[in-house]
Amino acid sequence: MRIVMIGTGYVGLVSGACFADFGHHVTCVDKDKSKIDALLDGKIPIFEPGLDALVESNVASGRLDFTLDIASVLPEADAVFIAVGTPSRRGDGHADLSYVYAAAEEMAPLLRDGVVVVDKSTVPVGTGDEVEAIIKRTNPSLEFSVASNPEFLREGAAINDFKRPDRVVIGVNDDHAEAVLQEVYRPLTRNDAQLLSMSRRAAELTKYAANAFLATKISFINEIADLCEKVGADVRDVAKGIGSDSRIGARFLQPGPGYGGSCFPKDTLALLKTGQDYGAPLQIVDSVVQVNNRRKLAMGQKVIDAMGGDTHSKTVALLGLTFKANTDDMRDSPAIDIVKTLKDAGITVRAYDPEGMDTSKAVIDGLTYCENSYDAMTGADATVIVTEWDAFRALDLDRAKELLKRPLLVDLRNLYSRTDVEKHGFEYVAVGR
Ligand code: NAD
Ligand code: UGA
Repeated sequence: MRIVMIGTGYVGLVSGACFADFGHHVTCVDKDKSKIDALLDGKIPIFEPGLDALVESNVASGRLDFTLDIASVLPEADAVFIAVGTPSRRGDGHADLSYVYAAAEEMAPLLRDGVVVVDKSTVPVGTGDEVEAIIKRTNPSLEFSVASNPEFLREGAAINDFKRPDRVVIGVNDDHAEAVLQEVYRPLTRNDAQLLSMSRRAAELTKYAANAFLATKISFINEIADLCEKVGADVRDVAKGIGSDSRIGARFLQPGPGYGGSCFPKDTLALLKTGQDYGAPLQIVDSVVQVNNRRKLAMGQKVIDAMGGDTHSKTVALLGLTFKANTDDMRDSPAIDIVKTLKDAGITVRAYDPEGMDTSKAVIDGLTYCENSYDAMTGADATVIVTEWDAFRALDLDRAKELLKRPLLVDLRNLYSRTDVEKHGFEYVAVGR
């Protein structure tokens, strides 16, 4: 099977490399010359564990390559995946589909009969219809199908998620598209992965419903964490107590500084917009978005409160900037709001992140970027763990105490036990405990 991946970002590069690893021949295309040049030079433009080795071995086997030139590869393709970005449209929260539609326009004259165009980007219901219309308009005699195959991988665990998915959703309106996608994913079905076939529209909506439901679980446990703090219960016990009910499930019940990332924030907004457009308002999702926005803003104040409200000439060490561990992605990271609140209060912020420093520099300025955790903590009045990187799980607290002006640890990811931290002479503030 010859596959072309349009868009070589987090999803396109991981999916392309995994498809190649399954044995398909894959060409990843991007408009960003620096990305393609880096890949052709053997460099991976993003941080994703295991991706460098996977790309290297598949390039070496001749099954994976990269190009800026779609005209050189599209005429041979059996399946063309669209994996371009669908960010929030400024102003109304609707998904910005301009990259998807531009990709459809560009590919239309170059496709061959029998090709299946597969949308892997997260797109609102009906986008597949529009992609089909664009291709038909530009190339009326072409025989082709348009399918939806939303992606459920998480950054930081992307390769494992892709290769061992709970399910693969295939949204098709014709048998040919179904047969081609079955063939693309056949290596996975050998591992008993579920392939769920449904209509294109159902597949498009499934992706948003999944992300909105996961975001709901997180906002729910974050509110329960707030209540725990008031009533004197430990949210970890409550999460375990409810999560062990298989109808609820234990995952995505970790309280924290609010969800961020390239997807939950924008996808919940886009789903709300779809609900409005179709006259079926989604009040639960609306509340989830509001709870999360408020939470991200409240976290900086939580730090200030932990310091006793005194912000004069104070310095805070921030450990972690990315929206979660094992990624360099800063999109909608809670760190952005936390830094803003601290800086607005006149606090100096010293920060360190194992992989996110470069991406952060493009998003947050006015910080002192530090060499490591201990450098960040030097002279600080409080240390805040924002991201659950492994590097922050076993800090040398004795060394930290020597460096800090005040041994106060605000642990927004609940990485530590209160007794352990207090044993080292620290004050400890966590989430929902
Ligand atoms: P990204 O921004 O990392 O990558 C998108 C890439 O597409 C960019 O490199 C851009 O240059 C390229 N591009 C845009 N238009 C192009 C065109 N016409 N031709 C060639 N290349 C083009 O985005 P991402 O995080 O990979 O997300 C892609 C889609 O997948 C989004 O819809 C997102 O919601 C969805 N998704 C993302 C994740 C994730 O973990 N990041 C997971 C599941 C689904
Ligand atoms: C999420 C989904 O988990 C993927 O299934 C989906 O494919 C992807 O969005 C997408 O559509 O792009 P991702 O954003 O990479 O993946 O990361 P998650 O692990 O889901 O974390 C998202 C945010 O929720 C992070 O800020 C994380 O810290 C937070 N989170 C997650 C919690 O606060 N608590 C939890 O229990 C889980």
